Amino acid sequence: MEQERLHPEATGELSNLLYDICLAAKIISRQVRRAGLTDILGAAGTVNVQGEVQQNLDVFANETVRNAVQHTGRVCVMASEEDEDPIPVPVPDDRRAGKYVLLFDPLDGSTNIDVNVSIGTIFSIHKRVTVGGQPGMLEDCLQVGRRQVAAGYILYGSSTMLVYTTGRGVHGFTLDPTIGEFLLSHPQITTPEVGKYYSVNESNWNRWTPPVQRVVMAFKNGDGKVQSKNARYIGSLVADFHRNLISGGIFLYPADTRSPQGKLRLLYEAAPLAFVVEQAGGAATDGRRPILDTVPESLHQRAPLVIGSKADVDFATSILRAEPAPAVPASR
Ligand code: AHG
Ligand code: MN
Ligand code: MN
Repeated sequence: MEQERLHPEATGELSNLLYDICLAAKIISRQVRRAGLTDILGAAGTVNVQGEVQQNLDVFANETVRNAVQHTGRVCVMASEEDEDPIPVPVPDDRRAGKYVLLFDPLDGSTNIDVNVSIGTIFSIHKRVTVGGQPGMLEDCLQVGRRQVAAGYILYGSSTMLVYTTGRGVHGFTLDPTIGEFLLSHPQITTPEVGKYYSVNESNWNRWTPPVQRVVMAFKNGDGKVQSKNARYIGSLVADFHRNLISGGIFLYPADTRSPQGKLRLLYEAAPLAFVVEQAGGAATDGRRPILDTVPESLHQRAPLVIGSKADVDFATSILRAEPAPAVPASR
């Protein structure tokens, strides 16, 4: 509400959309906390558009976000990691189509569901660019990250936290399950200039280019101006990102011979977290330029990701920038 008052022209629509997302987060959080008890564990058996086996909780989270937003009239179109195409939002006959676009990863870190490790939800909000009135379309989803009006994530960790930005700083809320409300616990989060941790899946070592190997060695052993760092890798992007945001650190998911554009998705993983980290004083690049300047060409486009403490990202990017640009992005 305080943030809304900073925008005199605000109609409250964006605040209400953030409340809708919070409602979905509370429902997902409750299900995550009971996952072991409601035989929701284990793969749903279906395969999503990414060709990944869908976990039950992925499906539940996806449906929960869609249902929390679908009928509010605030959004004209949605896109989810779990759906191949944009999700057109029916225009209530008594209303015009919403002016916002919601892009989301309903459950990040799916492989960690069955082993009780932190997972998350990531969201990115844009204003529609197509003419109002009718449902939104793909063009409304394919907007450059710099144009986001809000972005953030929910971390289902030792506590459930919402962290978000609307371009005026980063704010963290912790869910008090006894009253079902997110309470402001971390106002104005800023991330340390130099990180304590480096976070990368080192099993990809042999698939990396020499510059990537040099960057990781620098964080492991130190390299001139860079001190050696402690290694942490949870395997849930939201959890690795949040630890680095609070304590300082750098997360890397570089391109490799198996994933020439990296593994992570631009629209609903890299871009929203890049908005958050820049607002907290950090940085995010694809190894050569800011993630927020990458113009998306397809909904599920991947991007190499180097994100976290500014000095560490700048160091890594100065080395990675020297390597040849990767092949033309694969369509999926
Ligand atoms: P998702 O569960 O939404 O597909 O995301 C998983 C991602 C991300 O959360 C994490 O950083 C990365 O996968 C881990 O990948 P590796 O297991 O290849 O390291
Ligand atoms: Mn994810
Ligand atoms: Mn996911």
